[in-house]
Amino acid sequence: MRRKLVAGNWKMNGTRADLAEVQALTTAFPAPTVDLLICPPATLIAQMVTATQGHTLAVGGQDCHANPKGAHTGDISAPELADAGASHVILGHSERRTDHAETDAQVRAKAQAAHSAGLIALVCIGETLEQREAGQTLAVVGTQLAGSLPDTATGANTVIAYEPVWAIGTGLVPTLPQIAEVHAFIRADLAIRFGADGATFRILYGGSVKPSNAAEIFGVPDVDGALVGGASLKAADFGPIIAALSAA
Ligand code: PGA
Repeated sequence: MRRKLVAGNWKMNGTRADLAEVQALTTAFPAPTVDLLICPPATLIAQMVTATQGHTLAVGGQDCHANPKGAHTGDISAPELADAGASHVILGHSERRTDHAETDAQVRAKAQAAHSAGLIALVCIGETLEQREAGQTLAVVGTQLAGSLPDTATGANTVIAYEPVWAIGTGLVPTLPQIAEVHAFIRADLAIRFGADGATFRILYGGSVKPSNAAEIFGVPDVDGALVGGASLKAADFGPIIAALSAA
């Protein structure tokens, strides 16, 4: 009942020349059976929307401001993302939480702004290595989930991305039982807060997903897809991950 989703997070990588990678993907997967999303740098959103017209591949932002407009130099609002053609926005990525000291409360306000603008929010949560080694993983993830999701969240307008901070861009990946434990915990937490609708939220795993490990990660219960950084930049890497999710 949950449609699988594979999302690419290009982070601060991408100029017009890289749109060729997306065109290679839409050619390779003309009618995908899973949801596809790419979140390029904001400068490429409108062009990627144009380049993928007629295809189900969705385009998203990587952050938004909590206010719809105003004197906030350098920021981008949710209505502006929507106007550029974005349908999704990543919020609370660990790099935003680290580089810009974003708090759960700020992420929650941004998610609410995204919902008001009709965007689907991909809310990221995850523990640091220190927290995992201290046995705090579930406590940290639970606190972030409770604090980062607004009451407007539903399974239709919100996707959860579990991304252990120590697995992002490092080549390190939790064991499959570790992934299963956290995803089951998030699923149960969503059911407590959102009742029956909690079962409809997609929960993605993120952190060093590669063609070589995608299939086994997608076999873990309650893993509804992936948020992929480095391996989403090239169609040669992202394609096999899409294929693995399609076959899962
Ligand atoms: P990675 O990044 O796939 O390069 O580890 C994932 C992410 O930050 O979303």
